[in-house]
Amino acid sequence: MRFLFFCLLLSGAAMFAQTQASLTVDLEHPRGKVSPMLYGLMTEEINYSYEGGLYAQLIRTPEFVPGWDQPAHWFLMPRGTAQLSFQLDKSVYRLDGRKLSLRVDVKQADGTNVAALGNEGYWGIPARPATTYTATIDAKGNGVGAMTASIVSNDTGQSLASANTEAIGAEWRQYKLQLNTGADVPISSSNRFVLSFQHPGTVWLDYVALNPPAFHNRENGTRIDLMEKLAGMKPAFLRFPGGNYLEGDHIAERFDWKKTVGNPADRPGHLSPWGYPSSDGFGLLEFLEWCEDLHMQPVLAVYAGYSLKGEHIDPGPKLKPYVDDAIDEIEYLTGDASTKWGAERVKDGHPEPFPLTYVEIGNEDWFDKSGSYDGRFAQFYKAIKAKYPALRLIATTKVNGMKPDVLDEHYYRHADEMFANASQYDKTDRKGPKIFVGEWATREGTPTPDMNAALGDAAWMTGLERNSDMIIMSCYAPLLVNVNPGGMQWATDLIGYDTLRTYGSPSYYAQVLFSNHIGDEILNGTLQTNNARVFYSSTRDSKSGTVYLKIVNADTNPLDIKIKPERGAATWKSATVWTLKGGSLAQTNSIDKPEQIVPSKSQIDNLGPDAVQHFAPLSINILEIRPDSGR
Ligand code: AHR
Repeated sequence: MRFLFFCLLLSGAAMFAQTQASLTVDLEHPRGKVSPMLYGLMTEEINYSYEGGLYAQLIRTPEFVPGWDQPAHWFLMPRGTAQLSFQLDKSVYRLDGRKLSLRVDVKQADGTNVAALGNEGYWGIPARPATTYTATIDAKGNGVGAMTASIVSNDTGQSLASANTEAIGAEWRQYKLQLNTGADVPISSSNRFVLSFQHPGTVWLDYVALNPPAFHNRENGTRIDLMEKLAGMKPAFLRFPGGNYLEGDHIAERFDWKKTVGNPADRPGHLSPWGYPSSDGFGLLEFLEWCEDLHMQPVLAVYAGYSLKGEHIDPGPKLKPYVDDAIDEIEYLTGDASTKWGAERVKDGHPEPFPLTYVEIGNEDWFDKSGSYDGRFAQFYKAIKAKYPALRLIATTKVNGMKPDVLDEHYYRHADEMFANASQYDKTDRKGPKIFVGEWATREGTPTPDMNAALGDAAWMTGLERNSDMIIMSCYAPLLVNVNPGGMQWATDLIGYDTLRTYGSPSYYAQVLFSNHIGDEILNGTLQTNNARVFYSSTRDSKSGTVYLKIVNADTNPLDIKIKPERGAATWKSATVWTLKGGSLAQTNSIDKPEQIVPSKSQIDNLGPDAVQHFAPLSINILEIRPDSGR
């Protein structure tokens, strides 16, 4: 009978250039439990993700970085007859860790002819009406008098907000200023940050930061529009700090967490493998506060003795300091005030310990051709488990001789490969370690994915959901991209932004739909179709009984499908449907056209077993079927 039905489907498909299919869902024998942490976020400093991105601080190069011969992104702005010069000064400095300041010599200046230096910001300094910006300046001076900090329009030269320090003293001191824009200031990004002087003299600058209002009003916080976009994804966890950013090109350029905590002005900063320096103003505690703000669990990746250009540390005594460092890091997250590193966290302003269940040892260690990962993993594993037996430890590649708690797998694929592999986990042996798909993406479209990629992603996510008894976590990468010229290092990133605006790609909306409609039980389903570009998953919320069906039609033909519960008393009559569809595979969203492809909501009221439901070509559909929909 089923065979006959299938033959009819095939002939129907040939006649109408339309895919016909049926989906039956078994309501009595759930396949397993959906992992409560299935969908999360992966992050690292790439594509100006924090600097010029999520980290709200606005000055580019807030501290002066050793090794540079020019104070990058700073420039001189003498007005009228004013004269000034600047240079990096290795003999006068505030911090032993930096051993550098910016010396500014004001040779000539007065009230009309001010001597000034500017900072270009990250593709401009954004200004908004009726907004307070906090400037933090570590400086000392000699006869230079007071300093004025302003946000100045590049187009008109007008000051949009400004404030003055008292006369700069001879000793290092931190000056804090509030710069308030007026209610009539238009929203703009073509602005610079300016420090100006009206008296000849010398000033040394060590750190200059400008913070706008941030998410949850944090002092050293995150950009509000981006946090709101991320909150929409309902992420359960954050995997940080990388990625390659954890490893660095060289051991000395790894994410050395102890240099990323404490007063932001005291953090030396470091070079990231993605070609630009990190101020580390967004450091370990800021990652954790990000988790707290979005109710995500931290998934902490610890540096494990391998860096990208091939340097590694052999297991044994030489690796011990790095293992100790990881244990200190775990203590910084989880220890109370009686522990050394827990007390540091308390001192840094966060009395409560953070929850921690998963720790990842390294990143993509299959690149380490020395074969040292087996030994390195074992050394970290034993030491961490000895002190923290409840922690679940993640290996970044297969380890000989031991079974890690979790294995991290990464997949960057084209859409065709995603379609072809959407069921790769359906038959995976459940005796192995749990799986964390810690980086994945369909790489079609730049700087952000197009509709073809969203379809590849959605097909892939149906496979993640069907197998979420074994796949305990998954996260797309990279997450963020600054779309200004030169902002992107990695094509195809989930969320784009410039200095003022942000947008979600079609792939972003696909994830929002999937993670907001999931439940906790995986239901068995049977999809009958002759089309390899139709995908499904079925899950249920055990408390409410609501069933979620995801039906992805990645084909250019429409899909006609009969949907019914296979067992159980339920009959279905109606469903709420969310649909994301594209007019073509290449259609996409962009910073100027952010809402070409966004979800729409509709209703099905004829969900009987013989009724045919129609789904558009190139569409991702979520059906929410409430238990009372059959009554
Ligand atoms: O997501 C971009 C990079 O891809 C990550 O840093 C790395 O882990 C992977 O190779």
